[in-house]
Amino acid sequence: MKNILFVCLGNICRSPLAEAIFNHQIKQRNLEGRFTSDSAGTSNYHIGEDPDTRSIASAVSHGVDISHKGRQFHYLDGKKFDYILAMDKTNYRDIIHEMGNKHEGLFLMREFDEKNKGADVPDPYYGGEDGFENVFQILSVSINNFIDFLLKEDH
Ligand code: 4NP
Repeated sequence: MKNILFVCLGNICRSPLAEAIFNHQIKQRNLEGRFTSDSAGTSNYHIGEDPDTRSIASAVSHGVDISHKGRQFHYLDGKKFDYILAMDKTNYRDIIHEMGNKHEGLFLMREFDEKNKGADVPDPYYGGEDGFENVFQILSVSINNFIDFLLKEDH
């Protein structure tokens, strides 16, 4: 069993959507029981909150179940999780700062996006609905490739 954590700034837009898409693809690929998933934010802005209504709408429009309560990333998450996926480079830096050391399983989410390797998953918070559809598409591709990677690592 490998434990996967998706991290963004607020833990209401990108990372709960990533967690939901991951769970959805794991189910579709009949890989249930092999991985756990969770999400967290580097900030304390939205602790205890449901995902943003636009993230929920985006998930629902694609038939993806989404449910999460916002929580803040804590350095102990570095010990609990085998893989930590940062949505952007600021999140990546903040995670390292909070952990105080390196983590072998820390990656940028878009390390797994072949066409835009290492790019940020754009923060859709201050934009419109189309920003959330864009994030959904980016996450779907990146997470599909990330699951391929997990299966290669853990056969
Ligand atoms: P997220 O989006 O990091 O994808 O959850 C944001 C949500 C809230 C804020 C910023 C980004 N905020 O500044 O409150």
